[in-house]
Amino acid sequence: MNLTLKIWRQKGPQEKGKMVDYKVSDISEHMSFLEMMDVLNEQLVNSGEEPVAFDHDCREGICGMCSLHINGEAHGPDRGITTCQLHMRMFKDGETITIEPWRAKAFPVIKDLVVDRTAFERIQQAGGYISVNTSGNTQDANAIPISKHAADEAMDAAACIGCGACVASCKNSSAMLFVGAKVSQFALLPQGQVEAVDRVKNMVAQMDLEGFGNCTNTGACEVECPKEISLENIARMNRELVKASLIKF
Ligand code: SF4
Ligand code: FES
Repeated sequence: MNLTLKIWRQKGPQEKGKMVDYKVSDISEHMSFLEMMDVLNEQLVNSGEEPVAFDHDCREGICGMCSLHINGEAHGPDRGITTCQLHMRMFKDGETITIEPWRAKAFPVIKDLVVDRTAFERIQQAGGYISVNTSGNTQDANAIPISKHAADEAMDAAACIGCGACVASCKNSSAMLFVGAKVSQFALLPQGQVEAVDRVKNMVAQMDLEGFGNCTNTGACEVECPKEISLENIARMNRELVKASLIKF
């Protein structure tokens, strides 16, 4: 395939960015999207130009680093996948592809297609954990009875990889699907009950502090989420928050 790429180039956080056109040729339909980006970067390096900065790590849908907005969609045109799992067969020969970074106030651009997602880490630090004594007397997980339904729901919520596609797809730049998943993962399990009240309050407070917007139930986040995290997690987080406010002010 021969393609035209329109890519957001921005030298640094304070610099003004702009879309720049590039041509790539002989792209195999079996390549992943990131491999196609590698081909472009090799081309740029060989001609003495600055390669395009983009985030990636595992390249197998686990780490959540590959945050690209492709043709106006987070992680591109396919469903239930990350950018590193997107294949070039989803595009046509001769096509023009626009590639932009996540756009959200709470995810400022660092360089080109790389954004700062440490806001998510600060939300996690505010409560996305359980305190367990690991000094040798930890209770065997199999000794704690958990219903199949709760275990399945908790597992589905825990599939969130913190990629930020939910924020990038939301017209309000809301992080509620991410926070909902992180709160739900613990709210559904007995191990999460001890710190449940503080967890939901602190994580939601940090989310607001970071400048993420509110949820207006458009559902765009659920559609674009590579791990198909359900909106039900937002409803559960809201219920947890109401419960927490009644228990402790
Ligand atoms: S909820 Fe989905 S889109 Fe949002 S951070 Fe988690 S995996 Fe990514
Ligand atoms: S590079 Fe890890 S999820 Fe894509």
